[in-house]
Amino acid sequence: MTHPRVAKDWYESAGVRGAPRRMLEEDREAGLKVFPEALVPHLCHEGLADLGAEGRRALLTQHFYQYMQFTAHLETKVVNRGAAMVAHGETDLDVGPGARLDAFKIYSDEAYHALFSLDVVQQVEKVTAVPVLPYDFGPRMERLDRTADRFLPEHGSLAQLLQVVAFETVVTRFLSRIPRDETVFRVVREVVGDHVRDEVHHHAYFTRFFKELWAGLSPALRVKVACGMPHFVNDCLRPDLGPVRAALLSAGLAADRAEEVIRDCYREETLVAAVRDAGRHTLGLCEYVGAFDIPEAQEQLRVLGLAD
Ligand SMILES: [Fe+2]
Ligand SMILES: [Fe+2]
Repeated sequence: MTHPRVAKDWYESAGVRGAPRRMLEEDREAGLKVFPEALVPHLCHEGLADLGAEGRRALLTQHFYQYMQFTAHLETKVVNRGAAMVAHGETDLDVGPGARLDAFKIYSDEAYHALFSLDVVQQVEKVTAVPVLPYDFGPRMERLDRTADRFLPEHGSLAQLLQVVAFETVVTRFLSRIPRDETVFRVVREVVGDHVRDEVHHHAYFTRFFKELWAGLSPALRVKVACGMPHFVNDCLRPDLGPVRAALLSAGLAADRAEEVIRDCYREETLVAAVRDAGRHTLGLCEYVGAFDIPEAQEQLRVLGLAD
């Protein structure tokens, strides 16, 4: 089997190796929006009618901040935790010396993604004067830990690797559209473009990594992994509603109105459909290796609404 690898020309092509620091210059951004409005489910709710243009702009900006901060936390706390294990050879799977070195390339990429995500948040805050609300990654981490404890209680590091596989192989199609969206701040398009270019390689690396990992699992462990994967996909794709609530309240919405907006814009069937759509590559990968031929895994797919 071929071991997972990143780009052959990583030293030349990776963002951290050669891309310039992306700077917000106000005159370049005139008339543009910080983030695509269509990516903020609650922005067009009628309950926001009284907010006015300024209030809506602040909400859009908060959504942008939250997305970028989520990214910075995810890269450093989830992805790089797993990448370091692979690089150090601390996994049951021997990926070979080249792929171990590549895991440190991914580690460097993700650290840089975290850096530029926070950098652009701070630059936008300075120019727009919309204050960044505190961001709590805790609920997401708890969700991931709960799934790990439930399905792989004696295989903590394997569970952490599967979390990386899930995050790195889900389809971030909406993200890849941002660099071409001419309504969006140029600095945001540039930063997202840098990110997407690196992630294409990570996606390929972890797809191959999972196939190799699966091939080496015992039948008993395959059942546990097959049951856990749909939950990890669900954990990584479901939006956190805490930050949405905080943003709505900070925009001046009354608590009951904020709850109404959340209820209307984040209905269960909408969330399940979004997970199915963005998770289809990862779920397809599980299917490809035969994970979903296991009846227990089919049951978990049904529980989550992800079965065909
Ligand atoms: Fe990344
Ligand atoms: Fe990545």
